[in-house]
Amino acid sequence: MRLREHLGLPPSMGIRTKLVLGVAFVHLLLMSIFVFDLVQRQRDFLLAELSSRTLHHAQVLAVASSAWVLADDLVGMEEVLESGGRGGGVQYAMIVDPQGRVLAHTKRENIGKFLLDRESRSALSGSREPYVYYESEKSLNAVAPILVSGRLIGWSMLAVDKSATSEHLSYVTRTGLAYTLMAIGIGTLFALLLSRSILRQLRFLLRGVDNLHSNILDRPVQVVAQDEVGRVASAFNRALASLRSSLELLNREVIERKRAEEALRRLSRRQVGAIEEERKRIARDLHDELGQALSGMQFCLKSMQGEAERSNSALEAPCQKLSSEVERMGVSIHRIANNLRPATLDHLGLLPAIEALIAEQLPAMGRNLSVKTDASGFRRRLPPDTEMIAYRIVQEGLNNVIKHSGASHVHLQLTVNHPNLIIAIHDDGMGIGGHGDGTVEEGAFEHGIGLIGMQERAAAVGGKVEVKSRRRGGTTLRAELPYAEI
Ligand SMILES: Nc1ncnc2c1ncn2[C@@H]1O[C@H](COP(=O)(O)OP(=O)(O)OP(=O)(O)O)[C@@H](O)[C@H]1O
Ligand SMILES: [Mg+2]
Repeated sequence: MRLREHLGLPPSMGIRTKLVLGVAFVHLLLMSIFVFDLVQRQRDFLLAELSSRTLHHAQVLAVASSAWVLADDLVGMEEVLESGGRGGGVQYAMIVDPQGRVLAHTKRENIGKFLLDRESRSALSGSREPYVYYESEKSLNAVAPILVSGRLIGWSMLAVDKSATSEHLSYVTRTGLAYTLMAIGIGTLFALLLSRSILRQLRFLLRGVDNLHSNILDRPVQVVAQDEVGRVASAFNRALASLRSSLELLNREVIERKRAEEALRRLSRRQVGAIEEERKRIARDLHDELGQALSGMQFCLKSMQGEAERSNSALEAPCQKLSSEVERMGVSIHRIANNLRPATLDHLGLLPAIEALIAEQLPAMGRNLSVKTDASGFRRRLPPDTEMIAYRIVQEGLNNVIKHSGASHVHLQLTVNHPNLIIAIHDDGMGIGGHGDGTVEEGAFEHGIGLIGMQERAAAVGGKVEVKSRRRGGTTLRAELPYAEI
């Protein structure tokens, strides 16, 4: 990461860039090491070769000039230098006596002079073997003793130009650099071709993953390589195929399930309808038959009571008691019939029926509970099914509040918001107990059938009922009933 920042590279590099940079770097590194080593070896070799040539040259001069030095023949010495002291990069050559006086020189003006520089003086006092006594950037200086029967009679000295060696070395360095650049170029090209073949398959794979993300499962990845990436692509295709078949299976199951649910809903709607019909019939029978019979009985009892009163009979009191019993029975039968099938619901609609329910049922339960009702969106009557189910939910909801909550306030909200009728009953009672988020613990409704009945009724028209409650935080029952406009 730091190296990347240091090199000024972007934080995320593509495979192609990485491959190209990596190959270029490796080539640069290896070729630099190789060229450096090659130049060093060449330098050592060329210098060794130059020094051995120079020493040999100095020695040849020493041998060739020994007779002339012995004879003190300056002309002979000069001839030796003329023939052997030129060419081969020789800058100058000379013959000096043991004291350092120049006897012969390729540059004549130096003849007769003494060698005074430190290097030359120390060369003359050094070993009696030919050796390189001085080396500079530009030249190599060698000396060889002139010996006659082991006696030193002079020295041959030689300076050779080194620039040819330096030129050769810089030529080798330049060639090495050119090869380095060539290697980097070829490596980069190779890396580009390689990355192209890897990336091609990767690109197909990426497209496949994108398709999968967009839920397109019928387009397998094109497999264009047989390497590991190609195998990944094949494995991806296999996984895609098995995912597709699992999804198809799941879809079929979902369709089956939906069908079953729909059938169940139809059945339960029919059941709810049948129950309501039955209740209606019983209510009608109660009202028409029992109610009529009781009215007849009441009429008879009233006339018997009048008769007994006129004849001052002892039957008057029992007749009166019986008459008021029959009247009470009539009221009860009316209440039961109304409870079974509130006539208001059929004749006036949901809101008046609920108002009647609140007005009649709550005082009957003997509870001091204040109910606030809000209704909105009721512009016309809802379908009879919906009205009936809504009425039953409100009825059971209020019953539960009265029976279980101990609340003193209930807020009932009825909202028509097409396509749903929403019922919310909120009480400030003790609550059912539940989780922190208000959802009720599992098993809290196990004992009664009221809430289950509400849920079944709502489900019959594709709706739902939810209860949220907190211990001592009140309870909210919320029902959503979808309805079709009539
Ligand atoms: N408003 C409420 N406040 C507190 N507890 C409630 C409330 N509504 C329901 N409950 C709790 O939920 C349980 C289940 O209610 P449900 O209406 O299903 O049965 P029930 O009223 O006990 O019996 P049933 O309705 O069959 O006569 C109740 O027993 C009661 O403990
Ligand atoms: Mg109940």
